[in-house]
Amino acid sequence: MPNQDAQRWNDRYARDGMLWQARQPRQLLLDFAHLLPAKGLALDAAAGVALHGLFLAERGLHVIALDVSEIGLRFALESARKRGVWLETAVYDLSHPWLPTNVFDVIVNFRFLERAALPVYRRALKPGGLLFFETFLKTEPNQDYPDHYLNPGELLNAIGSLEILHSAVEEQIKPDSDKRKVTEQIIARKQF
Ligand SMILES: C[S@@+](CC[C@H](N)C(=O)[O-])C[C@H]1O[C@@H](n2cnc3c(N)ncnc32)[C@H](O)[C@@H]1O
Repeated sequence: MPNQDAQRWNDRYARDGMLWQARQPRQLLLDFAHLLPAKGLALDAAAGVALHGLFLAERGLHVIALDVSEIGLRFALESARKRGVWLETAVYDLSHPWLPTNVFDVIVNFRFLERAALPVYRRALKPGGLLFFETFLKTEPNQDYPDHYLNPGELLNAIGSLEILHSAVEEQIKPDSDKRKVTEQIIARKQF
């Protein structure tokens, strides 16, 4: 059966991939970039057009960008070529996640929730490795796509034994509309 997420996101990137490419990385990564190592292996999980992976690659990290959408990743590779940085990509479905243990210095997961991936990220970090995670928080009982939203308290629970360096909830009101988006974010480090 074709993956419905892949279909939906391929259609979306085919329609407005250039608009995604023009976006900035999330402020969380920009504000806490001083925590990043100068080199090492990074994973951009559900990377899309790899806004965050490209930012990490430009800072000297070796980045692997995974996403279910091959069209999103094609935009990522095009940006990498234009910006003169190296990026590895793979079409990968994070709803059946497997990653090797203790290999990544940094894992970033922005605007994506796959509950099965959280313990896999934890294992895949090297001791001392950092997880940057930010996604949408459930604020209303009848939200569309309820599975895509964190429940209150869920993220901190799922982080388990990782050391929390930063944790916050942010509210944004979309300009020109009264639409409210609430995100929860953490930065966490695997203990040595
Ligand atoms: C809202 S976008 C976020 C993209 C990127 N992280 C960012 O913040 O710009 C969600 C991404 O999740 C990807 N995605 C959805 N389901 C997925 C799955 N099962 N496995 C891997 N990626 C998936 C989509 O293709 C899309 O690129």
